Amino acid sequence: MTVLMNEEKKAESIVTFNDFQIPGVIRFGEGALVTIKDEVLAKKPSKIFIVSDKGVEKAGLVDELKNVLKPLEIPIETMTDIVGEPTFALVERTIKILNQSEADFVIGIGGGSALDVAKASAALQDKKDLEDYFSGNKIIEDRTMSCVLLPTTSGTGAEVTKNAIFADEEEGVKKGIVSSALLPDTAIVDPKLTLSCPARVTAASGVDAFTHAIESYISTNATEQTRIYSEKSMKLFAKHITNAVHNGSNIKDRSGMSWASLLGGVSLANAGVGAVHAMAYPLGGTYHIEHGVANALLMPYVFKVIGKTCTNDMVRVASFIEIGDFSNSKHQALDAVVNYLMKLLKDLNLPTSLKELGVKQSDLPNLAEQASQVKRLLSNTPYRLSEEQILRIYEDAYEGGE
Ligand SMILES: NC(=O)c1ccc[n+]([C@@H]2O[C@H](COP(=O)([O-])OP(=O)(O)OC[C@H]3O[C@@H](n4cnc5c(N)ncnc54)[C@H](O)[C@@H]3O)[C@@H](O)[C@H]2O)c1
Repeated sequence: MTVLMNEEKKAESIVTFNDFQIPGVIRFGEGALVTIKDEVLAKKPSKIFIVSDKGVEKAGLVDELKNVLKPLEIPIETMTDIVGEPTFALVERTIKILNQSEADFVIGIGGGSALDVAKASAALQDKKDLEDYFSGNKIIEDRTMSCVLLPTTSGTGAEVTKNAIFADEEEGVKKGIVSSALLPDTAIVDPKLTLSCPARVTAASGVDAFTHAIESYISTNATEQTRIYSEKSMKLFAKHITNAVHNGSNIKDRSGMSWASLLGGVSLANAGVGAVHAMAYPLGGTYHIEHGVANALLMPYVFKVIGKTCTNDMVRVASFIEIGDFSNSKHQALDAVVNYLMKLLKDLNLPTSLKELGVKQSDLPNLAEQASQVKRLLSNTPYRLSEEQILRIYEDAYEGGE
C-alpha cells in the first residue's frame, strides 16, 4: 500500500497537462465567406455589428460581406473606424457604438487590427470597469455575444488566438489581453479575401506569421502538438511568401499563406511567442511601427543571439524552410537561418534597419527598458535576455546589415 501511494505520488509529480484551445469552428477554403450566412442563421440575431477598417472597406470586402448577408434581412450596423495598431481607447469607443446599436452578433473582417478590436468588443461589451481588463487585473471569464472573425491578411492568425493586442497611449507601449473568451465562435478563413491585400502588408503580415511559427516552435511552452502546427506553418511560408508578395493575384500562394497564418496562429495561441514580439511591442507603442514590420526586422537580430541555445531546433528549422541539411554541421544552421531571414527582408522590400524606420538612437535604452518588462513573452524564450543584451540587439538592428 505504501509503495503504491509512493508510486501514485511519483506519477502525479511527473504528469503534466497541456490545454490546447482553438475556436469552436475553423472553416478554411476559397469562397468560404458565403458560409457566414449559416453562422448567422444558427444564432438568429436581431442585429449584426460589423467591425472593419477603411482600407478593407475600400477594397470592397465589407460590401461583399453585406451582400452575402442581405437575403437574411437582418439589420446591420457597420463600424469601419479601426486603424493599425489600435488603442485601448478605440476598443472603448467601439464597445460604446456596439452597445448603442443594440446589435447582438459581431463580425470582424480585416487584418489583425480589426479582428482584435472585434473580439475584444464582443467579449467586453457587457463588462464594467474596462480598465481592470485592459491592465490585466481582471481576466475576461466569458463572452455572451456571438463573434465570427474573417481575416483579410495572412497574417496575424488573430482569428484563432486568445490574445488581443492594443497600444496604451499614455504609457507608449503595446499590451496583450489574454483569455479564452477572445476565441471566436467561428473563424472563417477565405484566402480570396487576401487577394486585394497590398504587397507591403502581405510581406509584413506574412513574416509576422513566420515569427509566430518559429517563436512558438522554440517556446519553452511548446508541445508535440503545437510543434506540428509551427512546423507546417514554416514549410508553407517558405514555399509561398515570395510569390504571394510579388504576384498577389495567384490564389495558390494566397491560399498557402492563409494556411501558414492560421497554423502559426494556433501554435502562437497554445505555445506563446517570445523575445522578438517582446522587443517589437515598444516599437509599435512608441513609434507606431506596424507589428509585422517590427517583427520582421527584429527577427534576424534576436535569433542571432537566442538561436545559440537551440542549435538542434535551428537544424530542424533550416530543413523546414529548405535552406540545407545541417545535421552534420549543427553550428552552421543558426548562421544559415539568420542569413535567410536577413535576405528575406531585402527580397520582400521590407526595412532592414531601425534607423530607416525613423527610430532615434537616443531612444534605444528606453526601448530596451520597456521590452525587458514584457516578461510574459520573454519567459517563453529559451534564453534569459538581460536588459543590456536587449539593448545590444536594438543597437545591432539600428544600423542594420549583417
Ligand atoms: N491577436 C493576435 O493574436 C495578434 C497576433 C499578431 C498581431 N496582432 C495585431 O494585429 C495588428 C496587425 O494586423 P495586420 O498585420 O493584419 O494589419 P492591419 O490589420 O493593421 O492592416 C494593415 C492594412 O492593410 C489593409 N488591409 C488588410 N487586408 C486587406 C485586404 N485584403 N485588401 C486591402 N487592404 C487590406 C488595412 O486596411 C490596413 O490599412 C497589430 O495591431 C498586431 O498587434 C494580433
